[in-house]
Amino acid sequence: MNKKRICILFGGVSSEYEVSCNSAASIVENISRDAFDICLVGITKEGKWFLYSGDIASMRDYTWVDDPGNIPAVISPDRSVHGLMVMGDEPKTIYIDCVFPVLHGKNGEDGTMQGLLEISGIPYVGCGVLASSVCMDKVFTTMILDRTGIAHVRWRSFLASDELDYEKLSGELEEYLGYPMFVKPANAGSSVGITKVHNASELRPAFELAFSNDSKIIVEQAAVGKELECAGFGNGIPFISRVAEIIPKHEFYDYDAKYIDASVTVLPADIPESLSEKMRETAAKAYVALNCRGFSRIDFLWDEKSDTLYLNEVNTIPGFTAISMYPQCMQDSGMSYSDLITNLINLAMEE
Ligand SMILES: Nc1ncnc2c1ncn2[C@@H]1O[C@H](COP(=O)(O)OP(=O)(O)O)[C@@H](O)[C@H]1O
Ligand SMILES: [Mg+2]
Repeated sequence: MNKKRICILFGGVSSEYEVSCNSAASIVENISRDAFDICLVGITKEGKWFLYSGDIASMRDYTWVDDPGNIPAVISPDRSVHGLMVMGDEPKTIYIDCVFPVLHGKNGEDGTMQGLLEISGIPYVGCGVLASSVCMDKVFTTMILDRTGIAHVRWRSFLASDELDYEKLSGELEEYLGYPMFVKPANAGSSVGITKVHNASELRPAFELAFSNDSKIIVEQAAVGKELECAGFGNGIPFISRVAEIIPKHEFYDYDAKYIDASVTVLPADIPESLSEKMRETAAKAYVALNCRGFSRIDFLWDEKSDTLYLNEVNTIPGFTAISMYPQCMQDSGMSYSDLITNLINLAMEE
């Protein structure tokens, strides 16, 4: 069998750079070497691209950027190249069969990289341009969900250019959403820039923090109950995994709760069968409505008092270390981490 050459993109100009390096390291460790040859392209936080041939440990401790073997290399938008342009002492091109963009957040999960990959003509793992950019933007995601009849908590959005009178606004938001409320950048990820606002005095700093991450923000009513997630897999109507519950170690699932003080996950979640069925049906509906392809993790909030299930967000390149939620959900469904990687590449190549 002739092996396919897979290019794994990692790092990136994103607040989720570190998560990406760790996801990619796990993939390199577990991808089937019988089926694939790999070539690694790291993107630094400043946006420099390198063909990387060092070890996995240096990806995990982020020292890969200083590897003396790094050679500047980029994906060519020229379809006749169908791969990389390597700009070392002897410039050359490398043919690539498929790209796995293991990039989280801005400049990777948001449709921009997918745009380059479309132009390059190289198949790539995961969602296309439109689904990626819509799912990255919490306001646009919510608008599509509204039209699809999928519930989202009450929300309002604001632009940095809006003239805001915080005193007046605080009263209006209190009436419409009530405290506590969540203030988030429309485009970010890993909980960066998000504040749980408990009272009027916390509102302005929360807006300022969110605006320092994006020129558009969303303010949401808080759901109090359970945080539930499931994995979607496939092109077209997806396979949806069983439901997992996250029990954050902090007041909410903030950056440290995600990556530093490992929160607890319960799989399958201890919830009634009817709720789990409703969530899986809704997840499939959202996956299709948002035009997802390949894979996505669909996150929900269940409000206990009103017994309402709200879709929170869809992550088109979910955390992907061997112990991350998405691979865990698929493993629970009988697909090993290594087979998952193979199957995602096959889904990309079949398109
Ligand atoms: N409306 C809400 N009600 C309750 N908790 C929320 C709400 N919005 C966000 N959270 C909490 O904040 C975390 C991060 O918010 P999320 O919208 O998932 O942003 P990110 O894209 O950064 O993951 C969630 O995992 C959850 O713990
Ligand atoms: Mg989230």
